[in-house]
Amino acid sequence: KKVVLAYSGGLDTSIILKWLQAEYGCEVVTFTADLGQGEELEPARRKAELLGIREIYIDDLREEFIRDFVFPMFRANAVYEGVYLLGTSIARPLISKRLIEIAEETGADAVAHGATGKGNDQVRFELACYALNPDIKVIAPWRDWTLKSRTDLIEFAEQHQIPVPKDKRGEAPFSVDANMLHSSSEGKVLEDPNEEAPDYVFQRTVDPINAPDEVTEIEIGFEKGDACSINGVHMSPATLFAKLNDLGRDNGIGRLDLVENRFVGMKSRGIYETPGGTILLSAHRAMESITLDRDAAHLKDELMPRYAKLIYNGFWFSPEREMLQAMIDKSQEFVTGTVKLKLYKGNVIVVGRASPYSLYSEELVTFEDDHGAYDQKDAAGFIRLNALRLRTLAKRDQMNKAK
Ligand code: ARG
Ligand code: SIN
Repeated sequence: KKVVLAYSGGLDTSIILKWLQAEYGCEVVTFTADLGQGEELEPARRKAELLGIREIYIDDLREEFIRDFVFPMFRANAVYEGVYLLGTSIARPLISKRLIEIAEETGADAVAHGATGKGNDQVRFELACYALNPDIKVIAPWRDWTLKSRTDLIEFAEQHQIPVPKDKRGEAPFSVDANMLHSSSEGKVLEDPNEEAPDYVFQRTVDPINAPDEVTEIEIGFEKGDACSINGVHMSPATLFAKLNDLGRDNGIGRLDLVENRFVGMKSRGIYETPGGTILLSAHRAMESITLDRDAAHLKDELMPRYAKLIYNGFWFSPEREMLQAMIDKSQEFVTGTVKLKLYKGNVIVVGRASPYSLYSEELVTFEDDHGAYDQKDAAGFIRLNALRLRTLAKRDQMNKAK
């Protein structure tokens, strides 16, 4: 029996690793993904070696993450419950995809993850794994083991020679998930939704109050709905995203304090930082504003919450997500051009947009002489016909009042 574990190198997944060896008696393969979480990955290798692992996978998935997951999602302008940019949700399908591939490569019959039994992530990992391999066995130690408290975990670690860093001996102050798109913090000091999050929770943005007192101007280039350049310099998806993150961090952009509805039923409070994503969302909407037809744009906006919910709930690998994606991708055919932005103390301010495929017509919209492009007299009939049923209704009400 062999299991591929999604391994961060941290204390919790190290305990899971030992637990799988000890309680399940199976051989463990570790998989650590570089999704741009900003952590050294070599320590994870050393730690896995120390714990007796022979098959260790460490993969740089940053380009694939941005190109094949983040960008397709941003073509939809996806936000969950009005504001959450889905930074954790969109990473889970990619991690699951690699877990399944590595299971096939190493002849493992199971995969394991470190998500708790109370959250969304267990659902996302497992739905994605089953969609990609219907016969895979998924082990979720947090749901299975009898370790009840932090003290139990530390005790288990010490019994099994897992090094416990000093700052991990007490209660962890909160739980973090990070990748190139965002950092998310939940739990412990953040559990009372009426208590402001302490400063030390924020990890990748400066406080907007301390951001520079001057404007940063940038221009983002788009090609078929995907950002492809900053200030005229073309970059790979992950390089571009890293640059947007730097700009966002310095200008205090993308902080969010949110109470959201988890798929499993409860409400939870989280602190999110999505600097580059917040800039990209504004810029992309501005690009679409001149390149999409009105009703195409409105249809897209109506379906967006459905699409966002599918990703939040873990249905990335599902026919309904792929159907919506095909529609979204089709809509992006002409979403090409440039958007000018000002970044200033937590704000993203759109100040210009241009496209070779622009549908915006100064000639049509001008209040000056349009040389016959639009006949204002047409509007009278347009309004009369649209008013017809409203007047009929109003007449009925008048008659009934008279009676
Ligand atoms: N609530 C977010 C989501 O469901 C983030 C979950 C993971 N974050 C964490 N701090 N453990 O997508
Ligand atoms: C977890 O429970 O592992 C993190 C939070 C979530 O998945 O919603």
